[in-house]
Amino acid sequence: MADLLELFPADSGLDDDGTVLIGGCRADDLAAEFGTPVLVVAEDALRARAREYIDGMATRWPNSRVVFASKAFPCTAVQRVMVDEGLGLDVAGGGEILTALKAGVDPAQVVLHGNAKTDEEIRIAVEHRLGLVVVDNANDVDRLEATLPDGAAQDVLVRILPGVTADTHSHVLTGNEGSKFGLPEPAARPVIRRIERSPKLRMQGLHVHIGSQIMDLEPFTESVARVVRLGEFPVYDLGGGLGARYTWSDRPPAVADYLDAVAAAAREHLPADAQIIIEPGRSVVASTAVTLYRVVTVKPGAITFVAVDGGMGDNLEVALFGQRFEAGIVGRFSGSEAQRVTVVGRHCESGDVLVDATDLPSPTVGDLLAVPATGAYCYTMANNYNGTRRIPVVLARAGAARLVVRRETWDDLTARDVD
Ligand SMILES: Cc1ncc(COP(=O)(O)O)c(C=O)c1O
Repeated sequence: MADLLELFPADSGLDDDGTVLIGGCRADDLAAEFGTPVLVVAEDALRARAREYIDGMATRWPNSRVVFASKAFPCTAVQRVMVDEGLGLDVAGGGEILTALKAGVDPAQVVLHGNAKTDEEIRIAVEHRLGLVVVDNANDVDRLEATLPDGAAQDVLVRILPGVTADTHSHVLTGNEGSKFGLPEPAARPVIRRIERSPKLRMQGLHVHIGSQIMDLEPFTESVARVVRLGEFPVYDLGGGLGARYTWSDRPPAVADYLDAVAAAAREHLPADAQIIIEPGRSVVASTAVTLYRVVTVKPGAITFVAVDGGMGDNLEVALFGQRFEAGIVGRFSGSEAQRVTVVGRHCESGDVLVDATDLPSPTVGDLLAVPATGAYCYTMANNYNGTRRIPVVLARAGAARLVVRRETWDDLTARDVD
C-alpha cells in the first residue's frame, strides 16, 4: 500500500507516525478541524498543474491560451487559483459564468459552452461581454442575434462534431457520431456561412472536444485533422479530455506528451498564425484533491463492507461511469495484514460503492479513510441524496488549511422550501 501516496497530490508525504500529509497538513488534523467527509485540495499541487499546462503550451505554441474547464471543479476558490495562474475559464452555463466572474476572471478570457443554452444564459454572456461563445447549434445563432443590441458584436466559435470515438466510457464521449454535442460537417457549413453574414456575430473559428478521461493521444490528433476540413480560421479551440490517474494501473500520458501531440497536430493541420485554445479540466484538478471519510460500519461476510460517512452524495464518478478509485486508512497505508473489502457509502443504492474489492489493513469503525484523486467532477456533482449535506472544501498549503466552501447546514436543506 505504500505506493498509494503516488495517487495523492504531488506534494503529499507521510508524517513520522505514517499519517498522510496533504498540502503539508496532517489528514487527522484536517478531519478534526473540518469534520468528515471533507474534500481537501493541495493548493501548491493545483497551482503547479495549472502552470505545467500554461507554460507547456506557451513554449510549444506561443499564440495559445489555456482555459480551465470550470465544470471539473467550479468552486470559486479553485477558479480564482486558475485565474491567478493565468488561465482563462471555460464555463457551461449561467452559474459557472457567475462563479467565474466572482473569481475575478477577465470576461474576455471566458469561453461559454452548452448544447442547450437558454435565453437567460445568452443574456448573461452578452451583458458581461464574454470573450467567446461556442455555437453548438443554429438556435444559438438565433438567440445571440436576438439578444445582442444593435451595433454590438460577439466573437463566436462553432463546435464541430468530428466523428472521432476515443477509448473511454460512452457516458463521457462527446466527439463520436451520434453525440448530442456540436454539428457534424454538413450541418456546420451553413451555420458557419450564416455567422459569416451576420452583422452581430464574428466568426472566429472552430471548437472540438472529443470526451473525457482519454488515455490515448491519437484521437486528439485525429480530431484536429477532421476539424480543419471546415476551413481556415483565426482560432481553434481543441477542447480538453486528457485522462487523469486514479488507480495503481492507470498510466495517463504526461501533460508534456499531450501538449507535444496537440502542437504537432496543429503544425501539421492548422494555419501557422492561428491561435490555439485548450480546455483541460479533469487532468488539471483530479489528482490535486483527496476526500477524507470516517468509517461508520464494518460488516463482515462473503464480502466485507466498509461503510463511510459519505459516498455518491460527494462522489458520483463511480456510479456515473464506473470510475475506479483507490483508498487507504490514514496512518496505516502500509499495514501488513490487509483484508479484501468493498468500501461503500451511506446512500440507499447498491451502486453507492466508492472502491470495489480493495485491500485494507484491519478496517475499524472510527478509522479515517482517504480516497485520493477526487478533485475532478466530485464537488460539481455533489448532491443531497438521502438528505446528506454537501461537503466542505478546504485548501491546504504549506501546512496551513483554509475553508473555502463550508459544509451545508441542516437548515440549508430546507432553505428553498416555500411552503
Ligand atoms: C467543451 C468541453 N471542454 C472541456 C471539457 C473538459 O474535459 P476534461 O475535464 O476531460 O479535461 C469538457 C468536459 O467534458 C467539455 O465539455
